[in-house]
Amino acid sequence: MRVKGFGVIGAGSMGNGIAQVSAQAGFPTVLFDIGTAQLDRAKTTIQKSLQKLEEKGKLKETGAAIFGRIAFTTSLTDLKTCDFVVEAASENREVKFKLFAQLDELLAKDAVITTNTSSISITEIAGKTKRADKIAGMHFMNPVPIMTLVEGIRGLATSDATFAHVRAVSEAMGKTFIEAKDAPGFAVNRILMPMINEGFFALNEGLASAKDIDTALKLGCNFPMGPLELADFVGIDVCLSVCEVLHRDLGDPKYRPSPLMRKYVEAGWLGRKSGRGVYVY
Ligand code: 3HC
Repeated sequence: MRVKGFGVIGAGSMGNGIAQVSAQAGFPTVLFDIGTAQLDRAKTTIQKSLQKLEEKGKLKETGAAIFGRIAFTTSLTDLKTCDFVVEAASENREVKFKLFAQLDELLAKDAVITTNTSSISITEIAGKTKRADKIAGMHFMNPVPIMTLVEGIRGLATSDATFAHVRAVSEAMGKTFIEAKDAPGFAVNRILMPMINEGFFALNEGLASAKDIDTALKLGCNFPMGPLELADFVGIDVCLSVCEVLHRDLGDPKYRPSPLMRKYVEAGWLGRKSGRGVYVY
């Protein structure tokens, strides 16, 4: 299994982690974002992460050699020669649909294009291209260099060969691959987000303080982070958007987003990235 060029769309926390792990796997990698500021932040994040891993002896080569395998660009056409692409742009349907149509025009006919979407239908994204058989979901977890899961999702038309290739690429990146159906939230977010949402309902009801809710799940269930801490880590806006997809597409009122979660997003309290979420950073 070889990847000649691994393209990543979006230099946010998921995209930069995916580019790093691709470079660690030895793939020549191109990281695209529309803004130079995002690319500059990604460079710093990747360098710091590689430095930590190098200090702990967890890399097979130097961090500098791995970093040197990543090209950073604001021009989508620089992905032209990539034969494997992961789209990790913002979780917005229209943005993703437009990008997939552009990538379909730009890339060679046999290139595989995957999306790191946390909840949008893979079948619908694939429908924006003329290569639905070569499109799949490839859902990484945050922080990508540490979390070892990739959730693979087949769209209705994804071919067996494409899916086998996505599995092989994920495994070459050191990840454990599971397969989930193309249903709202796939496996991880179908189960994780209702728990986070319930954490906000519980907080709103005054069931316990935020800290005690998190401590309950950390010490009571051995979770590394409680639900509210994790919401701040993932981004409360991301959690809300996944809860909205679950509610709308599954049509069951049990998935309705907590009004408190919505209020936090309205206030711009998005979690760690905005300096304030359930907790202040
Ligand atoms: N690069 C390199 N090393 C990193 C790193 C990174 N990006 N992030 C953390 N580390 C290392 C730290 O250096 C530390 O190493 P050490 O143990 O050798 O000192 C180790 O990982 C643990 O980190 P910390 O000491 O800073 O803190 P924690 O022990 O709390 O671990 C955590 C941090 C790994 C994030 C842990 O809290 C955790 O597993 N949290 C849950 C994460 C989770 O659930 N992610 C999934 C979210 S859902 C998702 O992504 C799906 C999406 O669609 C919403």
